[in-house]
Amino acid sequence: MKEKYYITTAIAYTSSKPHIGNTYEAILTDSIARYKRMQGYDVLFQTGTDEHGQKIEEKAAAAGKSPKEFVDGVAGQIKDIWNLVNVSYDKFIRTTDDYHVLQVQKIFKKLYEQGDIYKGAYEGWYCTPCESFWTESQLVDGKCPDCGRPVKKAQEEAYFFKMSKYADKLMKYYEEHPDFIVPVSRKNEMINNFLKPGLQDLCVSRSSFKWGIPVDFDSKHVVYVWLDALTNYITGLGYDADGNHAEKYNEYWPATHVIGKDIIRFHTIYWPIFLMALDIPLPKQVYGHGWLLQEGGKMSKSKGNVIYADDLVSYFGVDAVRYYVLTAMPADNDGLISWESVIDTINSDLANVFGNLVSRTIAMSNKYFDGIVQDKGAVESVDEELKGVVKGAVAKVTANVNAFKISDALAEIFAIFRRANKYIDETTPWVLAKDESKKDRLATVMYNLTESILVGATLLSAFMPETCAKVSQMLGAPLKDFDSLDKFGTLTTTTVTKTPEILFARLDGAKIMEQVNAMIEERKTKATESAPVSAEVKAEEKKEEVEMIDINDFAKVKLGVALVTACEKVEKSKKLLKLTVKLGDEERTVVSGMANAYAPEDLIGKKITMVTNLKPAKLCGILSEGMILCAEGADGTLSVLSPEKDVEDGSSIS
Ligand code: MSP
Repeated sequence: MKEKYYITTAIAYTSSKPHIGNTYEAILTDSIARYKRMQGYDVLFQTGTDEHGQKIEEKAAAAGKSPKEFVDGVAGQIKDIWNLVNVSYDKFIRTTDDYHVLQVQKIFKKLYEQGDIYKGAYEGWYCTPCESFWTESQLVDGKCPDCGRPVKKAQEEAYFFKMSKYADKLMKYYEEHPDFIVPVSRKNEMINNFLKPGLQDLCVSRSSFKWGIPVDFDSKHVVYVWLDALTNYITGLGYDADGNHAEKYNEYWPATHVIGKDIIRFHTIYWPIFLMALDIPLPKQVYGHGWLLQEGGKMSKSKGNVIYADDLVSYFGVDAVRYYVLTAMPADNDGLISWESVIDTINSDLANVFGNLVSRTIAMSNKYFDGIVQDKGAVESVDEELKGVVKGAVAKVTANVNAFKISDALAEIFAIFRRANKYIDETTPWVLAKDESKKDRLATVMYNLTESILVGATLLSAFMPETCAKVSQMLGAPLKDFDSLDKFGTLTTTTVTKTPEILFARLDGAKIMEQVNAMIEERKTKATESAPVSAEVKAEEKKEEVEMIDINDFAKVKLGVALVTACEKVEKSKKLLKLTVKLGDEERTVVSGMANAYAPEDLIGKKITMVTNLKPAKLCGILSEGMILCAEGADGTLSVLSPEKDVEDGSSIS
């Protein structure tokens, strides 16, 4: 019997049409699902939409629609885009589906009855876009620590989940399953930032809005959107809280989850803990991919520059877009995307390397052998390297797919095509064709090329399915069985098409960019006309262009109050002052560029603020052991920051 493999994407919010970043995840997961199917696994691939929550309720109201009408529209758009880019899901779940709603209610009740969920009161700060409550101390500059947006004070009677009860068990699970979280750096982040400091109980209900799954025994409350959303992975399979599971659930659970880096905490802490409470096996693996970021600033609707998959597809076709996004994302980092780089990638990899190889090979088979490809056994030593690259590819590609290193997997496949192009240059078929006695050798060369393309196209078919089906059709031979991919020469004979199609035409970048820029301009105008950009939105967009850090990044910077005990100008420098400062019992020297703003005597005796854990650096030959904090006015005036009340030097700042 085939081994089961259940793989899922995150379910996308139905707050707006998904951009290329969300679509990337669907394409990525689809490629893995297709690869596993090709390997012979019995795959179940689930994706879907996350449709509840305050943000969606507000968006629907703004659009003058009921929440259900609104989510029906966006879920339809999401499904259309997934279909457009050939996402081969077996199941598309919506959190408004009735079976899901029913099970979420049952799960909530079960957890309540067994004491994992209890009723309490919550007072805190609420970030609407993130659907998250924060305590005062978690806020950064009074704003949401996740997204940096303003928060509202809120108090609710609420249900809580006892997270801490399961923390040790989860830690043990991490230890016993070192591959549970990929990449492993994320695991350390979870341990150090969340598990070690101690898990807080999680508020799992809301009563300040209505658009959610009602808690059936206390209808004032709706279930917290993350508890609702995460359970999709089991309800979609037919999990039943009463134990009458559908067969699918018994067969396919546990899953491999593919998600973005921003929601790793939900999937590697909350989700496993909910599962432990339900006494269900934990997921096999959680892979948190990086984000696709737009070169030159954040995508925004009012700038008209949000990149959507359907736009890209209308210019470049489905498989070019799939290839592009998959190669644009490095294995454990973010990827940068731009219209210009899509064009470059298509021209360099798809037109020059892959398309060119296929079209040259077919054209030569037609020209020299009337389309018939057959190995005549005229082997030469130059063939060995090509065969080695082709035979070795499957192991490398599989290892990369298993490690979720998809751009590396694609590079291994393209190594076949690059090597084959080189083989054409080495063997010069057009020279062989001039010599009748080299006819067999020429036939073998053409066979080797065709076989190499077939192996490469088979491996590539998980990532670019339509193109590879076309290649197979043009070569007149089916794609290979997965098990034969490490062999060379399983093709017997074939006849290639007389009328090959150009797979990827070379693109005129300047011409396309003209059209794209016109489209962006038009959208920008439309967006401004239909919704004049408010000062608030502008401010928000501006803020979003600044790289956001989370509280843990900030926590790395140690700040302290220091007393200036001595200060003098640095000789040979117009700008620098050398300060001696006292931080409690410690004395330090700091060099600071404030000579134009302060005379040395102005600073002596002052309490200032400084970064205390900056690596020491030499300035004008003097070792500076910290950095003094200054505000810079619009005209460049510097002003040192001092504590508003008198506090002892050495005090820390947070
Ligand atoms: N609804 C939640 C997920 C619940 S799963 C139980 C959510 N939705 S989302 O629509 O905001 O994001 C869906 C997925 O797209 C997430 O995995 C997210 O990380 C991913 N991405 C969102 N923007 C992205 C990029 N710019 N690039 C790559 N992935 C991106 O989160």
